[in-house]
Amino acid sequence: MSGIEILGTGSYFPEFVADNDKFSEILDTSDEWIFPRTGIKQRHIAVDMPNYAMGVKAAENALENAGLSAEEIDLIIVSTCTPDFFYPAMSCLIQKHIGAKNAACFDVNSACTGFITAVDIAHKFLESGAHKNVLVVASEKLSAQQDYTDRASCILFGDAAGAVVLRKSEKKFCSFMGAEGDEFEALYCKVHYESNCPFYDKDKDYYNNRFDTFAKQNYLVQDGKAVYKFAVNAMSNAVSVVAKDFGISPEELDLVIPHQANLRIIAKATELLGITPDKVYTNIEYMGNVSSACIPVALDELNRAGRVKPGMKLCLVGFGAGLTFGSIIMDV
Ligand code: UT7
Repeated sequence: MSGIEILGTGSYFPEFVADNDKFSEILDTSDEWIFPRTGIKQRHIAVDMPNYAMGVKAAENALENAGLSAEEIDLIIVSTCTPDFFYPAMSCLIQKHIGAKNAACFDVNSACTGFITAVDIAHKFLESGAHKNVLVVASEKLSAQQDYTDRASCILFGDAAGAVVLRKSEKKFCSFMGAEGDEFEALYCKVHYESNCPFYDKDKDYYNNRFDTFAKQNYLVQDGKAVYKFAVNAMSNAVSVVAKDFGISPEELDLVIPHQANLRIIAKATELLGITPDKVYTNIEYMGNVSSACIPVALDELNRAGRVKPGMKLCLVGFGAGLTFGSIIMDV
């Protein structure tokens, strides 16, 4: 089985920064509460741009880093759970703005696991030979879905985009993905349709009034403790399973880039896996949780710092709403 080569990486985050003190101006919260429990000091917020515009900038950075023109891309896969449109797919908007006129486009949504899902799909398309140069973008505007009166949730999230350009290689690649749909109510954001369909039976208990209160209907809803517990197990299990498949133990990994949900989740899972903490990269302190964009943004930081080196065994691991989880180990 073939693997993938990362030809280039890119990222983008908006200029506006909301640090923990900014949140204590609008909520009964403080840096003293937030930082020790989450590891977050600040997050970037897209106050003046749509989600797709961040994706465009990350994609352009990745193409430049790869030394490829937009016309050479023949497939764009975008991961987002915070799209600007129901349709078209955000990948079509990115295609238009970067000028990738030869690319097929589609989006995936497995929430915070989305980048892993998109790379895994890209790997399969590349392996089949159907496509040659694949652009994967993860772009998220979580600020659009937050209830800024809910201090246990809104303080966690920020906005950003990350991208990679991928090509087939003969290097080793293993992946693992799963979902626990039974647990979906632990973390969700429901579409709120203001329908004027005259045929609806307004008295029926539709999903509109089943899951959440009127006050929450446009926003992310989560059971923080349930997600926390799931996440520790999901991260450690996903890494263990893919490592076994790869034929190594987790301690033999050179670099692990986990989804940046909470520093304590990452620390606990790292301990359970027996991995030396300095091999596990985190940027949650200054980025917050940017859902599926966490991993490619971190990958771009590491790549540009020269820390992703040939011969390394690189592990990417994600988990999130669904509840979903996924992991990849690849030879760089
Ligand atoms: O990509 C996945 C996204 N989701 C996650 O990563 C969520 C994972 N879960 C977590 O990270 C943690 O559950 C949180 C950080 C979200 C919350 O921590 P917790 O220890 O589970 O807090 P809690 O919600 O149980 O609340 C404990 C107390 C409550 O006060 P009372 O009722 O005990 O008086 C909350 O009202 O802490 C209070 N609280 C806060 N106080 C100050 C909750 N959030 C805040 C806050 N500032 N921001």
